[in-house]
Amino acid sequence: MEDGMYEELGLVFDKIDNYESRDEDVPIMELFFCYTGDIVSRYLFGESLGLVTSSDFIERSEQLRSFTKGIWIAIHFQFIRNALLALPRSFIAHLNGTWVKVLWFTENLARNAILNFGMKRVSSEKEVGETIFDHILAEDARRQQKGAHAEPVTFRELADESTGILNAGTEPTATMLSYATYFWVRFTHVQNRVLCELATVTRENGRLPLAKLETLPYFTGFVKESLRYMPLVPGRLPRTVPRGGLYVPSTGETIPEGYVVGMNHITIHFNKDIFKRPEEFLPERWIGDGGKELNQWLLTFSKGRTDCIGKTLAYAEMHLLLGNLFARYEILPTPNIHEDMVWVDRVIVHSTRNLRIKVKKRQAENIS
Ligand code: HEM
Repeated sequence: MEDGMYEELGLVFDKIDNYESRDEDVPIMELFFCYTGDIVSRYLFGESLGLVTSSDFIERSEQLRSFTKGIWIAIHFQFIRNALLALPRSFIAHLNGTWVKVLWFTENLARNAILNFGMKRVSSEKEVGETIFDHILAEDARRQQKGAHAEPVTFRELADESTGILNAGTEPTATMLSYATYFWVRFTHVQNRVLCELATVTRENGRLPLAKLETLPYFTGFVKESLRYMPLVPGRLPRTVPRGGLYVPSTGETIPEGYVVGMNHITIHFNKDIFKRPEEFLPERWIGDGGKELNQWLLTFSKGRTDCIGKTLAYAEMHLLLGNLFARYEILPTPNIHEDMVWVDRVIVHSTRNLRIKVKKRQAENIS
């Protein structure tokens, strides 16, 4: 599947080159949404959604970005969400067009995945189990064969799973890529050192390979510092205290079972006892033994039993895309970039407007 990441990267660069040749602002945030959407769909369904190459990629990325619109109402008034979902899709499309389009879209993908799975089983047993969907369906089929008492997985569950993973695998990484690109132009002091490291990497098929990018200490520090500086889920991630209560060693007290507790990541990421000079953007804090010590306090993907299942993929996408982007283009800010990147809490961070940049291809890239 790693080949798919390089393929999509090439397609993103083709699009950026078009904007550069016309001397236009690059709609980079939309491209990040399409890039992450195409990659996660390869893992989910075994094929790219073709968002990056589509002529209406701006509109399609807006559909993905609109998914958290009205999320607070959906969370606090669940009966409204459930009532809406029970209505015919064509009717609710009038109320919230973009969100419903994504829902429709993922329901169709789920339907196709079930059909494909059935066909693969007929044609070749070996292919079964390659995608996330195949794994879910194969596991379900195994349980049914064993005669286990569990209910078979329903279409609704599969459709919800595909919507969930498609969104979880698209919006957070695309938003994080956008903020990391913004930090690149905002904290220019990091650029020379990152570019020097990138210059030591030998290209393979014209790209800086992921395996090498992930070994660069300062560049990896840049990726982690971006994740620290912009903790993507700003809320408290509430949890219910389980049976027996929760003992808190630092206070010697026990929180009774059933209580809801939570903590936001920003409190930790900007705590000066843990991160020295927390307001400063310092990739070097992640280098060496001191950096290893800090890893436990990087909470952007959360920690423990419910932490993010996609964090390895997200790290890979960030290293590959940002490393190649910074090496290939000089990136320049657009006039309103700082106002555009002011964020609101929509369970995950949501920038006021989409990130726009100007790019100039670097000299070496024109030669190769
Ligand atoms: C920079 C990118 C990402 C960030 C910052 C991020 C962050 C998070 C966070 C904070 C959670 C909640 C964990 C909790 O409740 O304790 C989560 C859950 C989840 N993430 Fe990510 N995520 C990212 C990328 C991805 C990707 C690429 C996938 C791809 C499949 C993904 C799939 C999921 C799923 C399925 C869950 C739910 C896990 C569960 O309920 O057990 N995420 N993520």
